[in-house]
Amino acid sequence: MLVVIKDNFEEMSKESAKLLASLVRRKPDCVLGFATGSTPLGMYKELIRLHKEEGLDFSKVITFNLDEYVGLPPSHEQSYHYFMWENLFKHINVDPRHVHIPMGMAENIEEFCLWYEEKIDECGGIDLQILGIGANGHIAFNEPGSSLGSRTRIKTLSDQTCEDNARFFENKDEVPKYAITMGVGTIMQAHELLLMASGVAKADAIKATVEGPIMAKYPATIVQLHEFATVLVDRDAASKLEGSYSGF
Ligand code: GLP
Repeated sequence: MLVVIKDNFEEMSKESAKLLASLVRRKPDCVLGFATGSTPLGMYKELIRLHKEEGLDFSKVITFNLDEYVGLPPSHEQSYHYFMWENLFKHINVDPRHVHIPMGMAENIEEFCLWYEEKIDECGGIDLQILGIGANGHIAFNEPGSSLGSRTRIKTLSDQTCEDNARFFENKDEVPKYAITMGVGTIMQAHELLLMASGVAKADAIKATVEGPIMAKYPATIVQLHEFATVLVDRDAASKLEGSYSGF
């Protein structure tokens, strides 16, 4: 696992976009795993700039998103479908037929989850999976206690996650209680992982992820076992790390 520490959110975002863009240039039909949340927003802005100003071509890229709230239609402003189209897809030349985001409105969620896993396999697996991290150490919506071998499935969101996400909804009762999420095992099958975190609110989670024991209590700690994982953080998120790492 490579730990890279950048000065601030902007530098972290530029570095992550650079990594992703170099993969797209090397392999134009690569399979990208995208994440939502505030952390990858700077990276998405930079990717849009690279597309518009430097012609970065996404026409052959295939995408899979990590998760989606159960019960929110794609048109809902807080759905992850809406988020991805607003913040990235509608600004680049991705082929809508190549975009995969879990269907929070699926009639048969179990069947949908199996289909999602099969589709990832059919596309040859995810080349690069982008990850944020929850303050409680969750990745995607794999909350503390998630099986480290889990696959795409429905998960109940923890109270902390509902509270963290309440700011996006008019009141806490509107926050969905369930989500469809790629499993920890699904994420670990990606050929390469890029986990990003910014700000002091993530410092404990990053400390546990990078230097703590691997445990289901902090699902993100599993990235220590991935052969090609990069943890790219800003100084604030790295502020509790004790080891010495590159990037200062
Ligand atoms: C949600 C998402 C995660 C994301 C996390 C952190 O729970 N399901 O994929 O990593 O939020 O979000 P933020 O980047 O806004 O802190």
